[in-house]
Amino acid sequence: MKGKNILQVNQIYNQDCLIGLKDIPDKTIDLVIIDPPYDICTKGGCKGKTRIAKHMKNLEDELIKNDLVNAFNYSVLDELVRVMKRINIYIWCNGRQIPIYIKYFIEKLDCKLEILIWNKTNPMPLYSCKYMSDKEYCLYFRKNGYCQPKNYEDAKTVYYSTINIKDKKLYGHPTIKPVELIRKIIRNSSKENDLVLDCFLGSGTTAVASVLENRNYIGYEINKKYYEIAKKRISDTLKERDDVDE
Ligand SMILES: C[S@@+](CC[C@H](N)C(=O)[O-])C[C@H]1O[C@@H](n2cnc3c(N)ncnc32)[C@H](O)[C@@H]1O
Repeated sequence: MKGKNILQVNQIYNQDCLIGLKDIPDKTIDLVIIDPPYDICTKGGCKGKTRIAKHMKNLEDELIKNDLVNAFNYSVLDELVRVMKRINIYIWCNGRQIPIYIKYFIEKLDCKLEILIWNKTNPMPLYSCKYMSDKEYCLYFRKNGYCQPKNYEDAKTVYYSTINIKDKKLYGHPTIKPVELIRKIIRNSSKENDLVLDCFLGSGTTAVASVLENRNYIGYEINKKYYEIAKKRISDTLKERDDVDE
């Protein structure tokens, strides 16, 4: 068994998760929510010298500069399966990655799949030789995993919201996810005081959502800048929660 170190919960680590996960004992985690770097294809579409092509290029450049593409090592999935009590995992991904996850979780591990969608209601109007980028996929794989939505809204699989420019500016992460959506996932697939893991933490959305839903969390973020942002966001959330409780 790996993970012989004492596990500190309600902590985040500025570390490569492939190293950090080795400190987590087998069958410790109730729920995993991850948003690994996307596999972005730069081919296709009508890439000319148009204003739109330039905008797409700028976006790609920003993601590449911040190591937010093509860096995912799929062997992390073996570690995540090891540390989960039972398979109960949400994975954000793009269309190109769906077959890889299906192969791993359905063909190899015989899990059930549900697909959640974040539908962005005000996407950039870029549709030159392609559909607009107005959605993101979140794959939910489980094998005896806990899924108990408590109300009609929480049971819906499509979440509508604007692209969160405000959060992007506030927390400085280009691929930040809506905290309300992560809170809903946590409510649906874990119980109070359960332990939630996000090993691609970014600006800390999963940890913040865990605090707000009274769950424990553990997180890893390799980039020092994002790690510091996440740390501050978590401590501000804890402070706000404690001020309300007083
Ligand atoms: C798509 S972002 C996550 C954004 C996050 N969901 C949020 O709401 O802010 C992926 C993050 O994983 C981090 N990352 C990439 N490889 C990593 C690794 N091996 N270990 C830990 N973090 C990693 C990147 O620095 C990036 O911040």
